[in-house]
Amino acid sequence: MRILGIETSCDETSVAIVSEQDGQFVMEKNELASQVKIHAQYGGVVPEVAAREHASIVFALMEQGQIPHDGEGIDAVAVTAGPGLVPALRIGVELGKSLAWAWKKPLVAVNHLEGHIYSVWFEQLAPLFPAVCLLVSGGHTELIVMRGHGQYELLGMTRDDAAGEAFDKVAKLLGLPYPGGPEISRAALKGNPAAIDFPRPMMHSGDYDFSFSGLKTAVRVRRAEHPDDTVEDVAASFQQAAIDTLVAKTMKAVHQVQPASVILSGGVSANRLLRETLHGQLTDKAPEVSFHAPQLSLTGDNAAMIALAGLMKAKRGEFVDPLTLVADPNMRLA
Ligand SMILES: Nc1ncnc2c1ncn2[C@@H]1O[C@H](COP(=O)(O)OP(=O)(O)OP(=O)(O)O)[C@@H](O)[C@H]1O
Ligand SMILES: [Mg+2]
Repeated sequence: MRILGIETSCDETSVAIVSEQDGQFVMEKNELASQVKIHAQYGGVVPEVAAREHASIVFALMEQGQIPHDGEGIDAVAVTAGPGLVPALRIGVELGKSLAWAWKKPLVAVNHLEGHIYSVWFEQLAPLFPAVCLLVSGGHTELIVMRGHGQYELLGMTRDDAAGEAFDKVAKLLGLPYPGGPEISRAALKGNPAAIDFPRPMMHSGDYDFSFSGLKTAVRVRRAEHPDDTVEDVAASFQQAAIDTLVAKTMKAVHQVQPASVILSGGVSANRLLRETLHGQLTDKAPEVSFHAPQLSLTGDNAAMIALAGLMKAKRGEFVDPLTLVADPNMRLA
């Protein structure tokens, strides 16, 4: 099977073609146009601006032949239907519907978070089930148990800000540009993670929920009271506090669920310290559990992961009507 994937849920416009050959997933194409520079001037993503950009980029991609005009060789179309920004999602959804209808190909509606999880299936070694998934992105922070393909149970999630959102907001407090995650981790390389003892929110709450808004406030208060702290020390200490909570809760889930594998994915999974800390803890405390994280180029939003998740759904015959599909900004996984 060869599937076209479309992703426009936030500020990346992406189309991809993925096929399955001898049980391996092949990324034949993954075109990505980032709008980060456009939104950076506003300090965050402006939905209407994102939608306008998506619309002009998808037509440019078509003109360049990145989307086959007649659908030849494509067996199905997969599109991100949610969660995300409604005006942005709609561009991809309407494009997917139009192509599927015109080409007379089946249409698959993909949950963006499911796409992030499936980004690790491009690696040589596929995760075994059950898998504990730590999904950390700009809009979500969730611990999920995956018992099989397409089977998700939510263990816990953030009660306020997502981890990526906290990185972005703390970066702003420190005068670093948007998106803040990579900037914080870069600054943190030169800082002391033990310089400031920031709170580890909900670390011992007994459940699997997270909270990052208090940590962000702690950084703001500290900044006001100790203006002489270096940006590097604040970044390193904040990053350490955020990672400590993420890893502690994931390890708690590992002890309870006894999974065969752990999947780390989403934009924040690009964070090297987070990867190394979680992998290290697993090697120490649960060496039988395999660790999976996407290649760095697939940590952020991309259509390849949407195509792969869509391909799995297509194999199960989970199609939607191209005339009636609507974008769902609050689409849930479990
Ligand atoms: N090295 C890093 N360390 C920490 N955070 C990072 C790093 N690289 C990227 N991020 C963060 O990842 C987030 C973007 O991830 P992603 O694109 O998956 O989010 P999104 O698509 O906006 O949200 P969602 O997937 O929840 O809809 C941003 O908040 C960014 O700051
Ligand atoms: Mg995303």
